[in-house]
Amino acid sequence: MISINRIGKHLGAEISGVDLSRPLDDNTFSRIAKAFFDNEVVFFRNQKIAPEQHIAFTKRFGELEQHVRKEHRLGGYPEILIVSNILNDQGKTIGVEDAGRFWHSDLSYKQTPSLLSALYALEVPVKDGRVLGNTSFASTTAAYEALPDDMKRRLQGLKNVHSYRYYRGKNVQAQKAEQARGARVVQEHALTPEQLSSVPDSEVPIVRTHPVTGRKGLFINEAHTSHIVGLPKVESDALLSEICAHIIQPEFRYEHHWRAGDLLMWDNCAVQHKANFDYDLPLRRLMYRTTVRGSAPY
Ligand code: OGA
Ligand code: MN
Repeated sequence: MISINRIGKHLGAEISGVDLSRPLDDNTFSRIAKAFFDNEVVFFRNQKIAPEQHIAFTKRFGELEQHVRKEHRLGGYPEILIVSNILNDQGKTIGVEDAGRFWHSDLSYKQTPSLLSALYALEVPVKDGRVLGNTSFASTTAAYEALPDDMKRRLQGLKNVHSYRYYRGKNVQAQKAEQARGARVVQEHALTPEQLSSVPDSEVPIVRTHPVTGRKGLFINEAHTSHIVGLPKVESDALLSEICAHIIQPEFRYEHHWRAGDLLMWDNCAVQHKANFDYDLPLRRLMYRTTVRGSAPY
């Protein structure tokens, strides 16, 4: 028996009574898919899934992406991106360590940004009995709906540029600042020119219509948006910060407290998310992520 238990005011639900290691019949799958798009973020506890099963389940939502960071794909399973702080023999992280330093939605800088991501927790950092490394989510649909009418009118028709290049630059700066304050030096794999040119900047509407639900949401984020098209820089910066601050207000949020065995999925057309780096080695964190390709925003 499947049950769906809503947690946050606008988003976030636990789905129980499902074993994702088994093939799901069409009826069960469509209930899960409906619950997912209704709740924007859903999670299943106590799952024991192999990479094949993770891939098979998420593939039912659409085609899977292979991340531009090739070196962090799981061997033999290019659709799985490793998100981890664990180091290999050369002292480099085995996965993406800095995923989610800023509020973002996954692959929002691509011509066809991601529809959804599914993150499976294999190891979570625990200190004094408390799990660290929560992931926070904010509903961009609820945030859009709460905007005053004059702001909705102002944003209608405006576009913003999502840029992977801009994001990498911002991330490197943040890392340097953290290191200056004494944080461990993270050895980043530099991107090759081919990797960079495979992700050109993308110009998309700020107010986006959800491809499945038809709900409007705000498709602009502090990690990837370099600027708003057609505005002088000062104005663009000010409007960008104003919208981003509006989206992440507590009433639009859900914060996930991880347990090993969680499979957590989020709708990249309806929410933004951010990691919390309140842990470090020797506390290990290991997660596997699949990402379903979406469609061009409109
Ligand atoms: C991601 C991401 C945040 C986290 O995997 O896309 O942003 O808490 N992760 O690991
Ligand atoms: Mn992410």
